[in-house]
Amino acid sequence: MRRKLVVGNWKMHGSRPANAELLSALIGARPFAADVAVCVPAVFLTETAATLASTELRWGAQDVSPHEQGAYTGEISAGMLAECGCRYVITGHSERRAFHGESDLLVAQKAKAALARGVTPIVCVGETLAQREAGETEAVVKRQLSAVIHQLAHCASEIVVAYEPVWAIGTGRTATPEQAQAVHAILRAQLQAATGRGEAMKILYGGSVKPDNAATLFAQADIDGGLIGGASLKAADFIAICRAAA
Ligand code: PGA
Repeated sequence: MRRKLVVGNWKMHGSRPANAELLSALIGARPFAADVAVCVPAVFLTETAATLASTELRWGAQDVSPHEQGAYTGEISAGMLAECGCRYVITGHSERRAFHGESDLLVAQKAKAALARGVTPIVCVGETLAQREAGETEAVVKRQLSAVIHQLAHCASEIVVAYEPVWAIGTGRTATPEQAQAVHAILRAQLQAATGRGEAMKILYGGSVKPDNAATLFAQADIDGGLIGGASLKAADFIAICRAAA
């Protein structure tokens, strides 16, 4: 049985006072039956680490450089994330693919850089609405995942995958549990074929997960938890979602 994982993706939200309030509510709501983590803006990592250090809650970043170090102004290396105690880093979020032109190859290189420093990449894949309507969902997510599998080779089983249909992110439009499960099953089969360990790997669902739909999504056979955007910023909602992952 795979243990569930719920990860908050704060995106470019938060402030010192708001973070302190949110994290203290989260700390107070423990214990959870699932693993819980928050991926915060990089400037808040040190404080988040200090706040959560004595708990079983984990933290992570939202992006990482594919390079180890060097003249890459503005970038943050996996080694730096590791120094901040990051357990996770999100790679290939659709907002980075769309707004920063990140290619499948770059996402794969970022995932590799993270793993090399012991930070688990949460690799996001997902189709746009146009791709879904054109019947391309399976081809798109498999292509995105296969770039990562190819790059990581024997380490591919160490990643977490997040299926996030682009049309469901921040739109209030959630994939139905059946739609999500169908894609998760495809991804698990691909992971199993490539690594032989697909049955043990976690595949999260992301895209307008809320307290009222979380339990049904998490009840699907191949959905191992969620990557939560908007709802992770509201303590009561995020706590309810964490509790729905039993
Ligand atoms: P959402 O975002 O929950 O606000 O739809 C999910 C994500 O982008 O990770």
